[in-house]
Amino acid sequence: MTTITIRRATIADAFRLSEIGAATFTDTFGHLYPPEDLAAFLHIAHTPEVWSRRLHDAHVAVWLVEAKDGAVAGYASAGPCKLPVPDLESNAGELFQLYVRDTYRGGKLGSRLLEAALAWLEARGFAPLYLGVWSGNEGAQRLYGRFGFTRCGEYEFPVGAQRDHEFILRRA
Ligand SMILES: CC(C)(COP(=O)(O)OP(=O)(O)OC[C@H]1O[C@@H](n2cnc3c(N)ncnc32)[C@H](O)[C@@H]1OP(=O)(O)O)[C@@H](O)C(=O)NCCC(=O)NCCS
Repeated sequence: MTTITIRRATIADAFRLSEIGAATFTDTFGHLYPPEDLAAFLHIAHTPEVWSRRLHDAHVAVWLVEAKDGAVAGYASAGPCKLPVPDLESNAGELFQLYVRDTYRGGKLGSRLLEAALAWLEARGFAPLYLGVWSGNEGAQRLYGRFGFTRCGEYEFPVGAQRDHEFILRRA
């Protein structure tokens, strides 16, 4: 069994996060978009520069899952809520991203990452907590439901020229 650790990412991890961020998004959702929309999204969401800015933001936390051989198996990020929630509470927090590479799924890494992010958000005084999830992503919705998230709204998430129908989930 490969040893797996979850740790907070540092500024030195920007390149590795850009790689795992682009790879996991493409593997999971890439088939939903024309190549130009996917490329436009990866350019605004998963370049080393974008990740470097995220890692420099003191209000945001990022976690990496690493195998003993140094391979990155997943990541998560969290911070102040940026979702379009009406009358958003001033202390609201958000799980921004939660991804595990397909070959490592089903082994509770996603749950462990989520636990780390929720513990950090709660310790920082963020409440309530929100996240956005693609309406067709029933697997992730089941996982979030087990952690007490329930649907409270919806919005359109831009991927290039395409607009995904997303649910907003809330945990009181
Ligand atoms: C969601 C995800 C992080 C869970 O990671 P994991 O290590 O497999 O999670 P765990 O082993 O702790 O939990 C397994 C649960 O994940 C969910 N899940 C399993 N496969 C999934 C998939 N392909 N996509 C989304 N969720 C999935 C299910 O709820 C599953 O439990 P269940 O089948 O018993 O209901 C991982 O499946 C993943 O990266 N999926 C693709 C990206 C994604 O959907 N991210 C969430 C974006 S909002």
